Amino acid sequence: MRRKDDLVIGLDVGTTKVCAIVAEKGDNGDVRIIGMGMSPSNGLRKGVVVNMESTIGSIGRAIEKAEEMSDVEINSVFAGIAGGHIDSFNSRACIPITRSSGEILESDIQKALSAARATYIPIDREVVHAIPQGFLVDGHEVGKDPRGMSGMRLEAKVHIITGAITSAQNIILCINRAGFAVEDIVLEPLASALAVLTEEEKESGVLLIDIGGGTTDYVVFTGGAIRHSNVLSLGGDHLTNDIAIVLKIPMSKAEEIKKEYASAGRENVGESDEIAVRCGVGQPNRIISRKELCDIAHSRMDEIFSLIMREIHKSGYERRISSGVVLTGGASLLPGSVRMAADIFDMPVRMGSPMGVSGLVEVLDNPIFATGVGLSKFGSHWRSSAMESRFKGRHLFSRVLERMSDWFGEKL
Ligand SMILES: Nc1ncnc2c1ncn2[C@@H]1O[C@H](COP(=O)(O)OP(=O)(O)OP(=O)(O)O)[C@@H](O)[C@H]1O
Ligand SMILES: [Mg+2]
Repeated sequence: MRRKDDLVIGLDVGTTKVCAIVAEKGDNGDVRIIGMGMSPSNGLRKGVVVNMESTIGSIGRAIEKAEEMSDVEINSVFAGIAGGHIDSFNSRACIPITRSSGEILESDIQKALSAARATYIPIDREVVHAIPQGFLVDGHEVGKDPRGMSGMRLEAKVHIITGAITSAQNIILCINRAGFAVEDIVLEPLASALAVLTEEEKESGVLLIDIGGGTTDYVVFTGGAIRHSNVLSLGGDHLTNDIAIVLKIPMSKAEEIKKEYASAGRENVGESDEIAVRCGVGQPNRIISRKELCDIAHSRMDEIFSLIMREIHKSGYERRISSGVVLTGGASLLPGSVRMAADIFDMPVRMGSPMGVSGLVEVLDNPIFATGVGLSKFGSHWRSSAMESRFKGRHLFSRVLERMSDWFGEKL
């Protein structure tokens, strides 16, 4: 009989689908996916809840299916958060080491991290993550663990991710009203990173882009730590919308032909390739040029990648991304995306599906499940780390506000 403590549920409340991933934690720390439930999502726009009732319904249905498939009862979940309201920046602070030996203790590290985190945050926003990036002792970079070193000044660098309080509250409220507790909330691209990136990529520098339905999230890692993150309010659904408007067909048909015939590349598309689209009972088929369809896909993907490229260039990390780009999320399945990204970023590009876990092949082979799998991996570590005992029993918000997300600092 499975112990409840061994089960971790990742709940990805996305713009197009809600998906619950049921994972089982093995004795040696490995994670095995034993069930999955998915339900279409209609209550979010650009990653933010706009219809509570519809979102609650989708959450309930996804979890019910996951329970049926894995034959377990679900009570609590690790949930993702995203949306255009997410903001992130790097902060640093310096503290003096006053003891005569100059030795740096754990308490100094905590003090320096707290000082770096104690930056101005507008009252309508809350800190979702404050992730340690590294330390400097007397102005010299010393990596992530300065304990035991000696010096006169310890400087901490932290990546801070904030979100609108109301958006975070609404996701949690929907999950609670569907009848489930939230153990923690995690920024979605961080969860995706956990599922699809290797330690080596994070060390040598990588840009992860998760192109979903309503949002495109991206994060940059170098030297094993997160350096830059952002959420764009643009995704695959905008492409569906473009197709519907330009080709004058219903959204549902646009989504269908996008998945079946669209491509971001136009190399293998003949001028005369045509698609017959049945738009309604009794109506004649509409004949659509496949080249026109691919031109629409090309422009939208070009816009998304170019916006990110500009941001990365501004951030100064462009030259430090030695491992290149990893694409994940449903919209990255559009044929030609990898090639197009490689041209725009002028870097190697690969697709990223969940890895480092075993179990259901349908989940492991598909980039749309990257966030859900990452959430369950996060939860699994949370359960086995000191974080759980430290924060257990506290109100979720105060916990999220206070925690320094040590684990992301160490592992991401
Ligand atoms: N084979 C495919 N080709 C092109 N697009 C696809 C394909 N499969 C899925 N998509 C698109 O991927 C998008 C959904 O991706 P995903 O499931 O990652 O989004 P989400 O997590 O629900 O949304 P978000 O992360 O924005 O909240 C939709 O726009 C869908 O049309
Ligand atoms: Mg998503």
